[in-house]
Amino acid sequence: MSNLNIENQSPSESFIFWLMAYKLHDIISFFTKRKIFNAMYENAISLEEIVKQFNLSQGTIAIALELLCKANLISKNENNKYSIPMAIKNLLPLAEVEIFTKEWHERNLTLDTAFHTGRGQSSLDVILENHDVLKSYGQAMANASHFLALLILRFIQPRQNINIIDIGGSQGDLLLALSPFLKNCELTVVDFAQHEALFKNKVSSSNNNAFAFIAADINNFVKEKSSIDKADFIILSNILHLLPRQQIEIIFENLYENTKKDCCLIIYDQFINKEQQQNFDMADFMLIDWINCGTNFSFSQDEMKAIIKQKQFPHVKTRKAKGLPGDFLLIQK
Ligand SMILES: C[S@@+](CC[C@H](N)C(=O)[O-])C[C@H]1O[C@@H](n2cnc3c(N)ncnc32)[C@H](O)[C@@H]1O
Repeated sequence: MSNLNIENQSPSESFIFWLMAYKLHDIISFFTKRKIFNAMYENAISLEEIVKQFNLSQGTIAIALELLCKANLISKNENNKYSIPMAIKNLLPLAEVEIFTKEWHERNLTLDTAFHTGRGQSSLDVILENHDVLKSYGQAMANASHFLALLILRFIQPRQNINIIDIGGSQGDLLLALSPFLKNCELTVVDFAQHEALFKNKVSSSNNNAFAFIAADINNFVKEKSSIDKADFIILSNILHLLPRQQIEIIFENLYENTKKDCCLIIYDQFINKEQQQNFDMADFMLIDWINCGTNFSFSQDEMKAIIKQKQFPHVKTRKAKGLPGDFLLIQK
């Protein structure tokens, strides 16, 4: 898990660091929105070429480029040309979504409202209605899904003739990444209808297994026994943090009622590490998102395990997701 060890910093050093962090964020935001980072990935590009291609001021953009080099986000080669590594190129869709979301929350004063009233407002509806942002959202999920699939495969194992439902599976990337290890399986994504066209584009080339998309609200979907009683595995990846506690509890009551005896639930989420207070990590940043969107998710892996056990599931195991920011819960009746 990526984290920033603040143990060796004085409070004033930490304060100044966070206070000033927006300045670099603003540069990242400008470069992302104008697609300057994308241009740096295709070929290394000189200051003069950037200035010409994007109609910018040479003096100011030169300072920004040097800062980005110093922050280790881009590099400059011996011919004074700038480039970004593939790892950062893969994060650009995430950057686009984060920047869009940040600006939307700012315009709508959601954090302010949440602090005054406890009520938040999710940006998901606007993302779903904005084609470009939705595409970036899908790409951002897809990039993380490949690695996640390899970890989930350890629980599922290569198989034939099984039924897997990915609830909140977005555009199907996780199931697609699992698909080469599966044969004659039924692989179903449940998500909002806006994802369906992008899902269909992606799965059209895969014929090893039967893919399906069900456009439904999670809360309603799990209420219907016929929707889930054939599932051997149900995946809920990065979903619980989008739901208030009461809804999470109802979902697990329904999952308990309506799944078959040997169905295995695989949960992946950004649980909060409450033991190591000194390490500030990605999940700590996400807490602010969850205040903004009003779910106030702030459970550790063990706290979520206890909630699920209260909903009758006797077998709940915790597993680390090495190399990823979140962690797993494996649940069986
Ligand atoms: C954070 S993304 C996670 C996507 C994917 N499972 C992953 O881990 O990369 C949350 C997904 O849940 C979907 N979602 C959120 N609330 C939902 C609801 N009430 N019903 C159906 N889908 C929902 C969103 O559309 C989105 O695709």
